[in-house]
Amino acid sequence: MDTEIIKIDRENFERQELRHAGELIRAGALVAFPTETVYGLGGDALDEATVAKIYAAKGRPSDNPLIVHIADLKALDELAVEVPELAYRLAERFWPGPMTMILKKSSIVPDATTGGLPTVSVRMPSDPIARALISESQRYIAAPSANLSGRPSPTAAEHVIEDLSGRIEMIIDGGACDIGLESSILDLSGEVPMILRPGYITKEDFEEIAARVEYDRAVLAERVQESVVAKAPGMKYRHYAPKGQLYLIEGKRADVIATINQLVAEKEGAGIRTAVLCAEETKKQYHCAHVYSLGALSSEKEISAHLFAVLRTFDTEHISVIYSESFEETKLSLAIMNRLRKAAGYQIIRC
Ligand code: TXA
Ligand code: MG
Repeated sequence: MDTEIIKIDRENFERQELRHAGELIRAGALVAFPTETVYGLGGDALDEATVAKIYAAKGRPSDNPLIVHIADLKALDELAVEVPELAYRLAERFWPGPMTMILKKSSIVPDATTGGLPTVSVRMPSDPIARALISESQRYIAAPSANLSGRPSPTAAEHVIEDLSGRIEMIIDGGACDIGLESSILDLSGEVPMILRPGYITKEDFEEIAARVEYDRAVLAERVQESVVAKAPGMKYRHYAPKGQLYLIEGKRADVIATINQLVAEKEGAGIRTAVLCAEETKKQYHCAHVYSLGALSSEKEISAHLFAVLRTFDTEHISVIYSESFEETKLSLAIMNRLRKAAGYQIIRC
């Protein structure tokens, strides 16, 4: 299949530039589009045949449910039942934006979309292109991240082209994503609101609106490498991983730098292509031919925006072994570490 690629200027575009993309969605085709978090692979959320195509294009297991993207709040009452009052208050505060809520699904949502679960996840993105596409299509758009299953989520159209060119009808190139990590997922289908995937909107942010919010045990367990079944099916799969072996080094900063330098020397001595993943502040302290800075420690957002793109670069640069610094787990860094640990397949070296 030929994949049509269109460029849209997020800051300055006319709705009619998305007319064809909207028609494609209505016709059951797949269109990748930018959001403020990562690029999504979009299709009509209420059409089973389209949903099957989404799973196929990504090579994704069909028990891993999709997020349904909406452009107005009315949609919540159509897609979900028994919506708690808290959901509306959260929506008022965090939508449009990088928050996904899990609610009991209504009968119009096909089982294929929810991977057979009785719940549906819903998000109202803030990216103007995403919003305009949803409105223009007059559909609810199911959109997983627009990467091949297992690869890092795409934060630029080039990443989508790399993974999905020839497999979908259209890619909308709207430039780089602002946040660079997928939305925070909050499960409101049980007694206590649970964070299933940490993201830009943090537990502390949620607590401004909700009296009680907990992390799903899987989010916390991964820090101590317990095995607990993740509630968000997608969080249990190997994810984000570069082709090379990625190791996270944890410890005091000076020890981490010394340990990484020693490991790099050993590998490079053996002729193995090795890289270091670090913060801007420590970049100069590494003796390695391939040092990648994610950004300044003082700007968590800079680090989150660069993470997935750098993980992809390791593949294009044919790096065999990567040693990464770890980041203090406050606010957004909790989400950054959550993705890094998965990317590393939980290979952690403590020093
Ligand atoms: O930022 C985002 O959320 C991006 C953009 C495109 O909006 N989308 C995204 O979708 O990250 P995806 O499919 O890559 O990740 C969705 C995650 C998966 O881990 C999935 O298992 C979980 O959400 N999920 C979806 N519906 C769920 C449900 N009903 N119950 C539990 N987990 C669910
Ligand atoms: Mg994904």
